[in-house]
Amino acid sequence: MPKRRDKHPHIALLIATVYALFGFFWILFSDKLLLLLVRDTDLINKMQTFKGWFYVLISAAIIYLLVNKYDRSVQKSQQDYIRLLENIADPIYLANSSGRIMDVNESALTTLGYSRYEFKELTVADLDPNVDLEDWSKTVINSPLDQRFALESRHKRKDGTCFPVEVVACVFEDNGQIFYLGVARDISHRIQTLELLVENEKMSSLGAMAAGIAHEINNPLSAILGACQNVTNRIFNDTPKNLHIAKECNADLESMREYMRKRDILRMIGTISDAGKRASQIVSSMLNFSRGGSKKMHTCQTTALIDESIDLIRSDFSFSSNTKFNQIKISKDYPEQPLSVCCIRSEIQQVLMNLIKNACEAMTEKEYHAEDFPQLQLRVKNGKHLVFIEVEDNGPGIPQDRLKKVFEPFYTSKDVGKGTGLGLSISYFIITEQHKGRMEVQSTLDKGTKFIITLPEGSCDCCNIQ
Ligand SMILES: Nc1ncnc2c1ncn2[C@@H]1O[C@H](COP(=O)(O)OP(=O)(O)O)[C@@H](O)[C@H]1O
Ligand SMILES: [Mg+2]
Repeated sequence: MPKRRDKHPHIALLIATVYALFGFFWILFSDKLLLLLVRDTDLINKMQTFKGWFYVLISAAIIYLLVNKYDRSVQKSQQDYIRLLENIADPIYLANSSGRIMDVNESALTTLGYSRYEFKELTVADLDPNVDLEDWSKTVINSPLDQRFALESRHKRKDGTCFPVEVVACVFEDNGQIFYLGVARDISHRIQTLELLVENEKMSSLGAMAAGIAHEINNPLSAILGACQNVTNRIFNDTPKNLHIAKECNADLESMREYMRKRDILRMIGTISDAGKRASQIVSSMLNFSRGGSKKMHTCQTTALIDESIDLIRSDFSFSSNTKFNQIKISKDYPEQPLSVCCIRSEIQQVLMNLIKNACEAMTEKEYHAEDFPQLQLRVKNGKHLVFIEVEDNGPGIPQDRLKKVFEPFYTSKDVGKGTGLGLSISYFIITEQHKGRMEVQSTLDKGTKFIITLPEGSCDCCNIQ
């Protein structure tokens, strides 16, 4: 690390001056002082022999005291300086003008995973894969001295992984040599937050669009379902009008019905009607979800919330088109009497979707042998004025030391681009802060994971949790 500017830059001059002044006064006044203090001429003669030694001794003592004081103050300021550098949370690197790392602080060691000894074998090109050492060196040599500048780049850890950094650096000269001092701040979280904001913005406009599309689809869907209903009514009901028009056409309703049964037309109408109903269910789930912006509390049936969340996940193409997800068996264990909770519908759906998606993603990571197969269990249980919603999978589980971390923002075990590490932290916030509930996790390695949500039971007019 560079040397701090000297607190006593004129120490050499000070010592020389003190030494010269002391010598000057010694020569001028030592004899006079001796005559004044000692009357005995024999003793004066004897002391004259040792006068020179006295001088040497006293001047040595003065020089020692001065140098020692200076030395201690230098040592203290160096210690302060090192402590200051070591306590800075961002990694600091000192490199010479050819790019070789000369020194680093403690944070650089923990962030990049090298030992101090290993660092000294590295160059800036080993830290920053974008750096060409020759160009870097030229730039540093031609940079104005003692001026700070900032840049964004990527740094590489010892294990080969990279992360984005913002570097604030300066080039300075010490003893005729050029050095580069850089403070590199890890900005992965900042970038993730920015990406998330963009994503959020995108999602909210998508939500509005989805609401619009859902609304538009609802009309033709109603027409399809209505038409199916009319077709069945007009063929299978012996109403006077049906009988009259059949007679007008010289047709017999019974033989028409027989024909339709034999040609499977009835089943086909049933299929159109079922598919229409299913589409309409998805559309209404989507509408409910995208209307969530209002953040209004509603009384909702817990089982309906779960079913709607499954519908929404199924309508997500990346899920429904993935064969591994399709192999997951979903079983539901709902109580006989419906349990309602007062909640922000879209938010609880978001939590349930997060939990179900996490469970499905975890199960696709596990190899299932013999008769074992991926299984997701969704349970609703009744407690004392409480509702318990459990989402349990038989996936790979979470190691005990990571269990507490799963609710931390940005904690993810998934690859970059696959996981943001925000799903569970947002879910935790929604349940505990917005709905005054509880959220817990239990997990056994290789056996599976269970998330338990506890919410106050009751309709919105009986509980005041807003
Ligand atoms: N059901 C589960 N089984 C195993 N691990 C899980 C499960 N649910 C969550 N996790 C772990 O918790 C981490 C954080 O989850 P989450 O906050 O949703 O973020 P993300 O899904 O983006 O990684 C996941 O990366 C995963 O390691
Ligand atoms: Mg997730």
